[in-house]
Amino acid sequence: MKIYGITSLKDVEVTYSSLLFAFQVVMSELTNPNILVGVTGGIAAYKICELVRRLMDTGASVRVVMSPGAEAFVTPLTFQALTGNPVHTELLDSNAEAGMGHIELARWADRVIIAPATANFISRLAAGRADDLLSTLCLATKAPIAIAPSMNQVMWSNAATQSNLEVVEQRGVQIIGPDNGDQACGEVGLGRMSQPEEIVAALENESSQKHLKGKKVVITAGPTREALDPVRYLSNYSSGKMGYALAIACHRAGADTFLVSGPVSLPCPQGVERIEVESASQMYEQVMIAVENADLFIGSAAVSDYRAETLAPQKIKKQADKIQLNLIKNPDILAQVSALEAKTYTVGFAAESENLQENARGKLEAKNLDMIIANDISIAEIGFQSDNNAVSILTRTDRLDLEQSPKRLIAEKIVDFIVQKL
Ligand code: C5P
Repeated sequence: MKIYGITSLKDVEVTYSSLLFAFQVVMSELTNPNILVGVTGGIAAYKICELVRRLMDTGASVRVVMSPGAEAFVTPLTFQALTGNPVHTELLDSNAEAGMGHIELARWADRVIIAPATANFISRLAAGRADDLLSTLCLATKAPIAIAPSMNQVMWSNAATQSNLEVVEQRGVQIIGPDNGDQACGEVGLGRMSQPEEIVAALENESSQKHLKGKKVVITAGPTREALDPVRYLSNYSSGKMGYALAIACHRAGADTFLVSGPVSLPCPQGVERIEVESASQMYEQVMIAVENADLFIGSAAVSDYRAETLAPQKIKKQADKIQLNLIKNPDILAQVSALEAKTYTVGFAAESENLQENARGKLEAKNLDMIIANDISIAEIGFQSDNNAVSILTRTDRLDLEQSPKRLIAEKIVDFIVQKL
């Protein structure tokens, strides 16, 4: 079975039936939650009949809200018959108790799942629009919101969609899927809505299986800047996206999450404590403070290996054709953490442009790590600034390859794998 773009699960075999079984067992432990299902106008809307039925099988009370676009694919009557509840489509609803259907529904819901979530709906959610029932109740509810995106693969990879997803995720919205494969439009790629059973499993996983609850996690992310003079510095192209995605995934898994971040343009993820630094030395100092009592340390920052031996007090003047810059080594933060006496599970990254596996395994040994995540930075689509990644996760005994997918999904799978090993 393929989950979230993973094709090789060498030592983790998740079968369709075991997934379903796990979901049925744990969902039945929930106290019959009120789940509001928002359906927007995508072809996958027909699959929501199955999703509604599966949610109800767990004991949940389900109410459906449809966007006008969704009604073009499935009729409200279908959902009314399935749920035994009226289906809501209008913002101004004269049948609602106080004429404010969105407030009543927003208060009623324990969980909100929007499936399928179209590119249009995701952009409206990111913008905080309130001009139809579904967008308004998403603003009005205190319940956790999840979305299962569904769209053409080009629309999915469009920068506008990706940045909207980043915005909603940073606000705490759970993003489920999408899957990779054949699309209704005849194309092949990322954008298919996750299957109903996977959506239910992901919802359940989010609500009750906080695998890192009570654990402290420290993550480094982004580049460092090594000052040369008051206006110049040495740095690299790291965007921090992978480390931030890991922080979101750890927080979602229930961890107390600390992000020691170099200068990036990303907002601090909700619920995560961010400590902002510039240089490798500052990052080292802050990590050594933050890592006390930490259960897990993930070094995803692209730390500058060297810094200028002397910091010029004034701007370096343009004079000779050739000038010399003396560099000295920075502390290896990851190696220092793994050398600490305290048993913190240490995870490093190996960004390699050649001999990926060999070099990564060498770093695992040399820095005495528990796990290393290797990625090939010679491939432009999964490079430093990219939204996507493809990695091999190596421990001393295991290897798990994750095929190219958004860094958010890669981060979730890395955290799942760490949880198994912890
Ligand atoms: O040795 P290399 O720099 O390739 O190792 C990469 C790993 O080590 C990454 O996890 C990176 O965050 C970490 N590192 C570090 N401090 C350094 C250099 C690298 O924590 N000074």
